[in-house]
Amino acid sequence: MNIVILAAGQGKRMKSALPKVLQTLAGKPLLWHVLRTALSLQGKQTKTGPIVVIGHGANDVKEFLAATIQADSTFAKVTTVLQAEQKGTGHALLQTLSKLDVREPTLVLYGDVPLTTKKTLAKLTKLADGVHGQDSALALLTQNLSNPTGYGRIVREADGSVRSIVEEKDATSVQKAIQEINTGIMVLPTNTLKKWLKALRASNAQGEYYLTDVIAMAVMDGVPIRTVQADAEYETIGINSRDQLASLERVYQLNIANVLMNAGVSLADPARIDVRGTLECGRDVFIDIGCVFEGCVTLAAGTKVAPYCLIRNSVIGKDVVIHAFSHVDGAKVGANSIIGPYARLRPGADLASDVHIGNFVEVKNSKIASKSKANHLAYVGDSIVGSRVNIGAGTITCNYDGVNKHQTIIEDDVFIGSDTQLVAPVRVGRGATLGAGTTLTKDAPPNQLTVTRAKQISLQWQRPVKIEKSVSKKMPKKLAAESVKAKK
Ligand code: UD1
Ligand code: MG
Repeated sequence: MNIVILAAGQGKRMKSALPKVLQTLAGKPLLWHVLRTALSLQGKQTKTGPIVVIGHGANDVKEFLAATIQADSTFAKVTTVLQAEQKGTGHALLQTLSKLDVREPTLVLYGDVPLTTKKTLAKLTKLADGVHGQDSALALLTQNLSNPTGYGRIVREADGSVRSIVEEKDATSVQKAIQEINTGIMVLPTNTLKKWLKALRASNAQGEYYLTDVIAMAVMDGVPIRTVQADAEYETIGINSRDQLASLERVYQLNIANVLMNAGVSLADPARIDVRGTLECGRDVFIDIGCVFEGCVTLAAGTKVAPYCLIRNSVIGKDVVIHAFSHVDGAKVGANSIIGPYARLRPGADLASDVHIGNFVEVKNSKIASKSKANHLAYVGDSIVGSRVNIGAGTITCNYDGVNKHQTIIEDDVFIGSDTQLVAPVRVGRGATLGAGTTLTKDAPPNQLTVTRAKQISLQWQRPVKIEKSVSKKMPKKLAAESVKAKK
């Protein structure tokens, strides 16, 4: 089967600098969703793979495709065809003719209809195979909508057979009342499609070559037209404006929330979770409101995530507690650890079990062994931290000399007093204690107290007295001079 995805339109109604098909749903461009579904139909495809018609913002779309292929080689089969001027959906499909295998039917998908399922498309292609023999039926995906505004309407004869599709802008008021709409998704017999596309005329309200006009041509040619509807309405929603995008996002997120809840996850509010990628959860995970999950995230059984956390590309172990407002990115967190509130785990943070990372603590590219703690206001970067280490408030690993990054090694059972700076590269030996306020520039030996600290002194001293401005003006010269001296 040939698969063509129309994605050259500007999407004027979005009022955006970005081509419409690159607007994101669940963190991925609309076109990504369509391509993923198209590729899932792979078994039935010809060698060429899905053909994307690009035009408006073609370079942006190409850049997106290149980046996507780099991240996921299954997208490598995708090819593009340029529609230099956007003269309508029929004109867009016309650009792909030389690439289509005439022996196979052609499935047309729209880059702005992102959530059609594989199941629905399989149903549609089967319908096109039809009893009339391969390559002879035209299958249309339609939908009954309570509010059909903006869509092309399916016009039927009295006997129920499809006569034509009429676009909203060309429709009479009677036709506008039709609730069965054209989703744009169809399977066409390729050999006759070529003839139809060449015969299209742009004599309509928008002056465009409408793909939808081939329906009336098929009727004339006696090609059977069969229709089917998707299981769910959201599968057929086309995105033309920002409000449509926002409401489809909520539908998508609610679907994910339901899948999670069915798998044994508790959500404080299924309407207030956002998954932009994949979230895998063990049993009895609890997720409070306002959390965002990006990329691939795993939460093992019993883990609790408090309100307003962002977790991206991370693996969180069993029974972990992530307190509110934490930011976890590219991290591994071992079982029973406690993170946050207001913690920041950056890429390469690799925590073993029972690790505590408290408020305003940032960990980057560091391995922290079990039962170690950094509970308040610290920066641990490019470090290897042993077990049972206590990192006091205000501790900073000074990993960057302005040019290069250096490593800090803190061995097991070390106690680091508050407000300590470890100037890397540096090593703190097993069981060592660093006194509060130490600036460590050389290795600290094991089991000893190392401290760098200015000697404490106490002096007799008179705290200056504040001079009241209005009074000083009237002050006798001598007194004023004395108070100036005191100030110095
Ligand atoms: C289209 C259908 C309409 C249907 C609706 C479903 C036509 C004429 N109308 O209308 O019947 O109800 O989709 O969502 O087909 N595109 C190109 N090149 C162009 C024009 C469009 O590639 O010259 C692409 C767009 O990028 C988009 C898709 O085709 O992905 C649909 O175009 P759009 O302008 O959104 O058509 P609608 O007005 O939504
Ligand atoms: Mg559209």
